[in-house]
Amino acid sequence: MKVKKAVIPAAGFGTRMLPITKAQPKEMVPVVHKPVIQYVVEEAYFSGINDILIITGRGKRAIEDHFDRSDIPKKEKFTEELDNILKEINIFFVRQKEQRGLGDAVNYAESFVDDEPFALLLGDTITFPPCTKELIETYNKFKTSIIAVEEVPHEKVNLYGIVDCKEIENFVFLIEDLIEKPGKDEAPSNLAILGRYILTPEIFDAIRNTEPGKGNEIQLTDAMRMLNMRERMYAYLFRGKRYDIGNKLDWLIANIEVAVSDSELGEAVKRFLNSI
Ligand code: UTP
Repeated sequence: MKVKKAVIPAAGFGTRMLPITKAQPKEMVPVVHKPVIQYVVEEAYFSGINDILIITGRGKRAIEDHFDRSDIPKKEKFTEELDNILKEINIFFVRQKEQRGLGDAVNYAESFVDDEPFALLLGDTITFPPCTKELIETYNKFKTSIIAVEEVPHEKVNLYGIVDCKEIENFVFLIEDLIEKPGKDEAPSNLAILGRYILTPEIFDAIRNTEPGKGNEIQLTDAMRMLNMRERMYAYLFRGKRYDIGNKLDWLIANIEVAVSDSELGEAVKRFLNSI
């Protein structure tokens, strides 16, 4: 079965980005020309997906407004680009009633997903080039759940979901286990889950059977751990760039990197950076 649907959870608190996120969703924080979530929707679209469900919640209404087609008479390049994409895609919204964790948020996608495999893209994470496109290509070969991972420094493993796995071909690993934010001494590898997944609908049953874990939240990693006991799962090593806009350093770096490679702003930004 082909991957035709995407789910984007965007209901989290965003406490690490306070006070920026006090009265606006962190997914609407700008990275140069566009809010973060626009990059995420564009990634789904450029990966061949036309039906997208965004999971929102309290304080997140600006996200819905952003994806209305604009009625501004004088067109602007990036608004027009988005309008053209919006002509071709359907965006649906559902509200997570309480912020009970990423696993709980994903569970709201069950009736949208139905019985198909789907792409899951965290609404506060951007990747260049589009990681979802590479994941779908890998899914088409293995036909089971695949999680994108990246190498992180050993001293930072406690900040991520980490996979225990063995390489079966270039950049593809069979997952043996998954651990959410392990201590530095218990981490089985330095391969960290980066926020892009292809999952089979069996994940919903696993989420239903997952007890609240770290932080008293329903952790997606714990549900995937259960899924991994029932079906084969793979990890795919993404070699591009990914930015977690939910932390201030990554957000700043993303802005600088996007600005430096921008056709209008790039040269001036480089001159400025050299000058300081
Ligand atoms: P984070 O782990 O970054 O959590 O969520 P958070 O609550 O958004 O941010 P902090 O930790 O308070 O700073 C990862 C992704 O999962 C979504 C977030 O919107 C983000 O895209 N999420 C998280 C939900 O949709 N619902 C939740 O209950 C938790």
